Amino acid sequence: MFVSFEGCEGVGKSTQLRLLREYLDRTGQDAIYVREPGSTDISEQIRNVILDPANTQMTYMTEAMLYAASRAQLVREVIKPALAEGKLVICDRYVDSSVAYQGYGRDMGAELIKRINAPAIEGCMPDLTVFIDLSPEHSWRTKRNDDRLEQESNDFFNKVYQGFLNEIATSNGRIVPIKPDIDKNVTSEKIISLMRERGMIK
Ligand code: TYD
Repeated sequence: MFVSFEGCEGVGKSTQLRLLREYLDRTGQDAIYVREPGSTDISEQIRNVILDPANTQMTYMTEAMLYAASRAQLVREVIKPALAEGKLVICDRYVDSSVAYQGYGRDMGAELIKRINAPAIEGCMPDLTVFIDLSPEHSWRTKRNDDRLEQESNDFFNKVYQGFLNEIATSNGRIVPIKPDIDKNVTSEKIISLMRERGMIK
């Protein structure tokens, strides 16, 4: 089984992934944890190129293809083999991030981004995508990191959020929005219940 986590910046995605991992560790359940872009040697090198604030010349097409390249390596090296062995794979961001950020945020179009990514993901789509549903105006981020993507405008992040909402509507229940509670443990329980219902964890 394959589950990905998505959301805009500052929505508590990392915290939720940590709480899920703590729960699975505590209850003796194994999983493979990866994040995008990154999680293989080559993908981490690509990540550094993508997020380097000095790369001001990068075109949107280059950016989209680098995310897809990082993903191609991760799918082939880690995700596919793990799924073939029947493991649970938990991925921090996946192709929906490209659709939302590059497709909608960069106005490249969702369809083009899906076409670029199709050969990279080799048919590996998540069984479930947890979308931490907090709009940019309500996000809990107090300060931005200094990577290249985080230097974008409010308009960009609003388009990204709208993009995720559009994709939820056409995902046939694969992408499930979870509204974060002020209490992070309540949010975590919602996510654990959802994954239990889908038969992914105990
Ligand atoms: P990261 O520091 O991992 O961000 P976060 O903690 O928010 O997940 O940086 C990843 C950045 O790359 C983030 O701003 C989202 C963006 N991104 C894309 O634009 N397209 C993609 O396909 C992926 C995977 C990430």
